Amino acid sequence: MPHTIRRAAIDDAAALSHLGATTFRETFAGENTPEDMARYLAEAFTPQQQAAEITDPASTVLLAEYHGESGGTELVGYAHLIAGPVPEAVRGPAPLELKRIYVARAWHGQGVARALMAAAIEAARSRGARTLWLGVWERNPRAVAFYAKYGFTRVGEHTFVLGSDTQTDWLFVRSLVTDSDTGD
Ligand SMILES: CC(C)(COP(=O)(O)OP(=O)(O)OC[C@H]1O[C@@H](n2cnc3c(N)ncnc32)[C@H](O)[C@@H]1OP(=O)(O)O)[C@@H](O)C(=O)NCCC(=O)NCCS
Repeated sequence: MPHTIRRAAIDDAAALSHLGATTFRETFAGENTPEDMARYLAEAFTPQQQAAEITDPASTVLLAEYHGESGGTELVGYAHLIAGPVPEAVRGPAPLELKRIYVARAWHGQGVARALMAAAIEAARSRGARTLWLGVWERNPRAVAFYAKYGFTRVGEHTFVLGSDTQTDWLFVRSLVTDSDTGD
C-alpha cells in the first residue's frame, strides 16, 4: 500500500510544521495579503506549536505517509482532531472538532484525504465522539465539496481571524453513528 496513516510523535513536529505551512500557503496565499499570511503562519505552524498539538491530550494528530519504491517515506498529509469549545450551532451529541485535514497539493485527488478522513473518523469514534464538526472558509470550494462527499452538512457559520482579516467559516457537522465513511 503506497500510503499509510499513523499517529504523530513528537519527533514529527518539524516535518509537520513544514507540511502545514506549505499546504496553507498553497491553498490560501492567492486570496489573502502577505501580511495576514505571515502573521498566521508565524503562530499556527511553528515546530513548537506542532509539538504542543502532538502532545496535547485533547488532540489526536494523524499523519499520511507515502512510501516510495526507493524505500523513502514522505509526509503528504495530516489530520488534527481536538476536543475544545463547541460553537452553539453544533448540536449533535459528544462533539469533536476536525481542526485540520491538509494534503499537499501534489497529492490531491489521489485518495490520501480519503484515507485520512477514514482514520480521523475511526480515531474520533474511539475517543467516544458521536459528532464530528469543523469550520471551513466559505471561499474554499474544494474542501467544501470534499466534506459534502463524506456526509457533512452545513449548520451555520462563525468567524475566523487570519492575521488582521476577519473571515467567515461555514460550520459543518457529521454524525459518527452512521456507516457511510467511504466518500463514494
Ligand atoms: C480539502 C482536501 C483535504 C481534500 O482532499 P482532496 O484529495 O483534494 O479531495 P478529493 O479530490 O477527494 O475531493 C475534492 C472534491 O472537490 C472537487 N473540486 C475540486 N475543485 C473544486 C472547486 N473549485 N469547486 C468545487 N469542487 C471542487 C473535486 O472534483 C472533488 O470532488 P469529486 O471527487 O466528486 O470529483 C485537500 O484538497 C486539501 O488538503 N486542501 C488544502 C488544505 C485545505 O483546504 N484543507 C481544508 C481546510 S478546512
